[in-house]
Amino acid sequence: MKHFLTIADYSKDELMHIISLAKKIKKETKSGIYKKYMPNKTLAMIFTKSSTRTRVSFETGIYQLGGTGLFLSSNDIQLGRGEPVEDTSKVISSMTDMIMIRNDSQKELEQFAKVSSVPVINGLTDKFHPVQLMADYLTICEYGLEKNLKVAYIGDGNNMASSWAMLASKMGFELNIASPVGYEVSKDILDLCDKFSKISRAKIVQTNDPQKASENCNVITTDTWVSMGQEQEKQKRLKDFQGFMVDTNMMNKASKDAIFLHCLPAYRDLEVSLEVFEKYDKVIFDEAENRLHIQKAIMVYLDKNR
Ligand code: CP
Ligand code: NVA
Repeated sequence: MKHFLTIADYSKDELMHIISLAKKIKKETKSGIYKKYMPNKTLAMIFTKSSTRTRVSFETGIYQLGGTGLFLSSNDIQLGRGEPVEDTSKVISSMTDMIMIRNDSQKELEQFAKVSSVPVINGLTDKFHPVQLMADYLTICEYGLEKNLKVAYIGDGNNMASSWAMLASKMGFELNIASPVGYEVSKDILDLCDKFSKISRAKIVQTNDPQKASENCNVITTDTWVSMGQEQEKQKRLKDFQGFMVDTNMMNKASKDAIFLHCLPAYRDLEVSLEVFEKYDKVIFDEAENRLHIQKAIMVYLDKNR
């Protein structure tokens, strides 16, 4: 049985297989065919943090596949009152067919998955957001940019940046990550990516220079400077991230066919200028919609591999 906790656990072939499956399922859905790949299956969705896209895409996705989604806010279940993660996992996995979790600890997610009798999917943790990256890669493929792909991630070395590094190291593309001093991707994650990059021939560079990082890239991306749970650091972060807004000047450094991606929610005139956001609004919302299609593919894949 496989889980979907981090891209590190998947080979390039497996990731590409899921991308192809998503393309097929998207095509079917777009032509009004809702194939019931998971009839009568239940997906439990545990959230300890807010969400718009992840919740709506997983819930809608499982319905479209013929199953049922159970939304479980940690405030409403005993997990929020201190019931051990392992007990929660044993109980929920004994009654449902698949579990998605959004929390603030990759470690806890892994503890949960270890004792779960059904596949567990990472819907964002402190460390990674793998389902988002799969949607991003699907979008890149749809825009025909996967060959000679060169991505610049500008901003916080957070769960999104680490996931970009993980994806690049598996898929074998070039990635420049530009973050302010003190906000770089953690060394242990970069070391693990280096190991994968030796096989895939990916080239990952961490720098503090966003202008240089953007040069000749065909995808520029960023994420909020203040992730969920960091609200008290907001003022300091806004100061520390000066010079890291993706604006037209930065986009002009990229290649002519470059697109801009954002996982959303986006804060205009902070991590991205209003002008850039509006210019790339089509691709950004295609990217958001792709959460639905890729996650349906991930669920079908995990269900088949049980
Ligand atoms: N990008 C993303 O995961 O959005 P939500 O926080 O709204 O789920
Ligand atoms: N880095 C952000 C991503 C939101 C989808 C956060 O963790 O809040």
